[in-house]
Amino acid sequence: MRFQLQKFLPNNRRYSTEILKAGSRFLKENGVEEPRRNAEILLSHLLKKPVHRIYADDERITRGILPAYSKLLGKRASHTPLQYITGKVDFYKYVFSVEKGVLIPRPETEILVEKAVSVYKEYFLPVRARILDIGSGCGNIAVSLAKEIKNCSIAATDISLKALKVSHCNALRHKVKSKIKFYKSDIFPPGKSRFHMIVSNPPYIPLADIAGLDEDVKREPLTALSGGRDGTSVIRKILGRADVFLHEKGFLLMEIGYNQADFIRSFKCGMKLTGIERDLAGIERVAVFRKTG
Ligand SMILES: C[S@@+](CC[C@H](N)C(=O)[O-])C[C@H]1O[C@@H](n2cnc3c(N)ncnc32)[C@H](O)[C@@H]1O
Repeated sequence: MRFQLQKFLPNNRRYSTEILKAGSRFLKENGVEEPRRNAEILLSHLLKKPVHRIYADDERITRGILPAYSKLLGKRASHTPLQYITGKVDFYKYVFSVEKGVLIPRPETEILVEKAVSVYKEYFLPVRARILDIGSGCGNIAVSLAKEIKNCSIAATDISLKALKVSHCNALRHKVKSKIKFYKSDIFPPGKSRFHMIVSNPPYIPLADIAGLDEDVKREPLTALSGGRDGTSVIRKILGRADVFLHEKGFLLMEIGYNQADFIRSFKCGMKLTGIERDLAGIERVAVFRKTG
């Protein structure tokens, strides 16, 4: 979408706060949720200074900034997710690079990381944990676990080369590359390795629900969102074989969709369901299985 901020600003109104106001109005008129916050983050990204400093300085904006900011606002109004525009996303305690073609990590998934860290501390510490992350996307789960669990090695799989490229960059960015091995692989890694924990946030949205998703979400890759006809195609494959890749008493922790808990409870596999963690909205979100032997 083309937008020219200059046209909305009289010449004497080129201060940051005036520009923010105009940008926010434009986003609101184009149906973007939280228009002010979006306008702030985009200007902060462009000026390379935190939002509070933009307000505190309220400096006169140079001419070149206006077309650049207009361009970013136009992209956002066309439903390009904010994180694809800025190239970064906050997840757990860290900032990750993200780009078009790779899923944007969601706050719910932080529960999976928290639970995996607590399972490690309760059942495996001080053993060197071997962890498998299936569908690692931008590497947010694998990298967070590598940061949080000092004594571990991680295998991370994804079928998307783009995701693997970005996760590799994130591992380097957070200085944990030596702890993570990445594989372009369909669900499980090659070989016969066994793990203490398998973690996964698989694609789990039913194909028929994709058309009804927010326009922003539809900009994310279908392979990262859709779990086939009823949403469970990747989940079934993980549950069907995870025990083969687990040590005795090893754990599988897997994020699931808002209405998949009953399916998970009824699914027969080589592991025992020990519980399902709820997210902040009270939705059953992270299924925890244990291989009981
Ligand atoms: C919901 S995203 C999760 C990404 C990231 N782990 C996160 O939590 O934000 C699912 C990921 O699984 C990958 N994926 C989909 N099908 C796969 C398969 N058969 N084998 C391996 N990875 C797969 C997608 O490319 C995508 O990166």
